[in-house]
Amino acid sequence: MAVVGIIPAAGRGERLGSDGPKAFVACAGRPLVEWSLDVLEAVCDRVVLAVPEGWETGRDRVEGGHVRSASVRAALAAAPEASIAVVHDAARPLITRDLVVRCIGAVRDDGWDGAIAASPMTNTVKEADDTGRVVRTLDRSVLWSIQTPQAFGADILRRALDVPDHVLAAATDDASLVEAVGGRVRVVEGPPENIKVTRPTDLRFAELLLAG
Ligand code: CTP
Ligand code: MG
Repeated sequence: MAVVGIIPAAGRGERLGSDGPKAFVACAGRPLVEWSLDVLEAVCDRVVLAVPEGWETGRDRVEGGHVRSASVRAALAAAPEASIAVVHDAARPLITRDLVVRCIGAVRDDGWDGAIAASPMTNTVKEADDTGRVVRTLDRSVLWSIQTPQAFGADILRRALDVPDHVLAAATDDASLVEAVGGRVRVVEGPPENIKVTRPTDLRFAELLLAG
């Protein structure tokens, strides 16, 4: 049963505002993506990266797509042997081995179609209309903030990603596409430190956490 790690690393990092692609900016002394690559390589049989055009140096690097899930699809297409796929954003360098192992275990041993890292919401969450008027307050006790890693049965993930480009473009994570084809997905509680490097402040936070 081949477990393949998939790292979408083909984004431009516009909100970070760096010179080059975000996955390759320096973070605590090495390219951001390498923190994630180390952890996935320790746990998976193989890891495939989706990278920006021109960065396909070496094996297991494929050119990404215009949107995140298209990059995931391109990388998964390069791993036909996968029976479990673990998708993890290059932008989350604080991934832990334990979290990946627990996500894989929920799919391989417990039979879930998907198992996704998540933290319970700590802020109150409200819905507002387009004028800013609050419509309602949601019940925080059942809400989770979703991260990666996200582990899936590879077949159902392939099926979930086999949708028109506009559907892929609207997906903010891969689990939502798996849910849309009827997949059973569970949350796996992960550390809140598993932040996504989006803006310059996030990069500084990540460096502090990695140094500690
Ligand atoms: N990603 C990707 N292919 C894309 C867009 C994003 O592989 N076409 C990857 C990014 O490299 C990142 C992850 O998906 O690892 C999460 O995306 P995000 O944090 O939005 O990164 P960017 O798209 O690079 O940043 P921005 O949206 O600010 O441009
Ligand atoms: Mg983006």
